[in-house]
Amino acid sequence: MKNSLSFVKLVKYIEGYSFGEFFNDDNVDIFIDYLYEVSEEYQNNKWRCEYGATKLVIIMDDEDIVFKIPFNSTWDYDGHEYVFFYGAPAISTWDYCEAEEERYNIAKENGFANYVAKTNMVYSTKNGVRIYTQPKCYGYSREKRTSRKSLEVFGKWAKFNLPIREPSWLNAFIDHYGAYKLKKFLKFLIDEDWNDDLSGPNIGYTATGEPILIDYSSYME
Ligand SMILES: Nc1ncnc2c1ncn2[C@@H]1O[C@H](COP(=O)(O)OP(=O)(O)OP(=O)(O)O)[C@@H](O)[C@H]1O
Ligand SMILES: [Mg+2]
Repeated sequence: MKNSLSFVKLVKYIEGYSFGEFFNDDNVDIFIDYLYEVSEEYQNNKWRCEYGATKLVIIMDDEDIVFKIPFNSTWDYDGHEYVFFYGAPAISTWDYCEAEEERYNIAKENGFANYVAKTNMVYSTKNGVRIYTQPKCYGYSREKRTSRKSLEVFGKWAKFNLPIREPSWLNAFIDHYGAYKLKKFLKFLIDEDWNDDLSGPNIGYTATGEPILIDYSSYME
């Protein structure tokens, strides 16, 4: 991957951009506009960007991984200024990709590696941008119909007021992995305190069709 032409170009474009002190979901569009301007691949729809509150994700047609770049800050509505993230569950308390990398390793140690997409740092650019990769996944919206069996299990669990932000994705997991295995994984998520930010957009399907968590870094500013 590191020698792939797309990756080499991405690094070149990133190193040609002046990020300033703060990089976040409030100013990322300026970077995305720049990327569009310099990248023929982007202009030809071979690259696209998605982002949430904590990361920019660059998705390329010719890669089976995506590139994730952590934001370092957010807009503070009270103080009317940008503030660095300080609560990411990682050594660098601003880096939610590093948080995912650390959590992936914990999931693996506990036998849950196949439920979470592996995030892994591959490069740090000259101008200080950390680039991570994750296997490319596909949208939860492609979900086939939920089986009656999973709805039944889900109905039972729902009575316990599961501490999951938006739990409908559990149906796909129950269908695929079975209630017994999933119960163990859910207990692990809740015990580890990874459960608060789990909702449909943070779930994907691998290239081979397994449902998987693609964003499991939580959000604590
Ligand atoms: N592995 C992946 N394959 C394909 N698309 C992805 C992948 N990871 C992320 N995305 C897309 O990028 C979006 C943002 O990624 P992610 O959820 O990791 O960022 P975030 O900033 O942590 O989001 P949030 O606002 O939920 O905290 C996802 O909702 C999804 O659309
Ligand atoms: Mg997300």
